[in-house]
Amino acid sequence: MTGRIAIVTGASSGIGEGIATAFGAEGATVVLGGRRPAELDRVAAAVTAAGGKALALPGDVRQEADILKLFETVKNTFGRLDVLVNNAGITAHKPIDEMSLEYWNDVLAVNLTAPFLATREAVKMMKAQKPQGGRIITMGSVSQKTPRPDSLAYTATKHALHGLTHQVTRDGRAYGVVASIIHAGSTLSGFTRQTVGAVAKAGPGPTPQQYVMAASDVARIAVLMATLPDEVNLFEATILPNQMPSFIDRG
Ligand SMILES: NC(=O)c1ccc[n+]([C@@H]2O[C@H](COP(=O)([O-])OP(=O)(O)OC[C@H]3O[C@@H](n4cnc5c(N)ncnc54)[C@H](OP(=O)(O)O)[C@@H]3O)[C@@H](O)[C@H]2O)c1
Repeated sequence: MTGRIAIVTGASSGIGEGIATAFGAEGATVVLGGRRPAELDRVAAAVTAAGGKALALPGDVRQEADILKLFETVKNTFGRLDVLVNNAGITAHKPIDEMSLEYWNDVLAVNLTAPFLATREAVKMMKAQKPQGGRIITMGSVSQKTPRPDSLAYTATKHALHGLTHQVTRDGRAYGVVASIIHAGSTLSGFTRQTVGAVAKAGPGPTPQQYVMAASDVARIAVLMATLPDEVNLFEATILPNQMPSFIDRG
């Protein structure tokens, strides 16, 4: 990925941090999104140590103005964008009958509207640049296959992101934009700490079913998606701990 410019949203922790660092190890210049400047600086140092270049651009993906500023800065600084990773996301668990419209809208703002806005801005830039085109990789979830209990808003966004990816793949053919989605299972992150308890490290858990992947495991898929020949698309990848209770087995 030497010479390639990549944006990773939600790069301040978890899977986004893993993808940014892995892209750095491949020689990419990685633009890091997220709200916590100190964490972004920490990840920027890791990207540089891995062999890449990093630019931390703090912002809130719920604000269209912040997303526009991110892309404007990338355009003015590097003149092009090769890879967008729509990774920023929040977890959300609430019974349907207790879910307010405000709660629903909050989840959609981060998990769906922000990827739409970032994808729109990426497509504009990728369509106009020479050479034309680029990659848009979006973080889905195994919830797109089998939902966790009480996760209506979250599950709905991950299904919608699958649709977004499909549509962008179809429309992007006209201008070399290639879209892919990663459906991940349990991975160590700020997220996992909320959904599966106080998980401190990746690897085996108290039972075989509680194995937690490292962000670097998921990042390998993002690197593969980003580095295949331009004409080739790994459209969808599902990566999960083999023993994880999931759509693989209803038992
Ligand atoms: N971990 C899993 O088991 C798992 C499984 C399937 C899918 N996923 C998906 O993986 C993605 C990353 O989650 P993660 O597990 O790595 O959790 P995480 O460690 O909590 O990371 C979430 C990232 O999103 C960013 N973010 C959240 N709200 C934001 C906002 N309003 N503006 C800008 N950035 C925002 C956070 O940055 P700031 O807090 O600095 O803003 C953080 O960098 C999500 O899309 C999630 O749905 C995770």
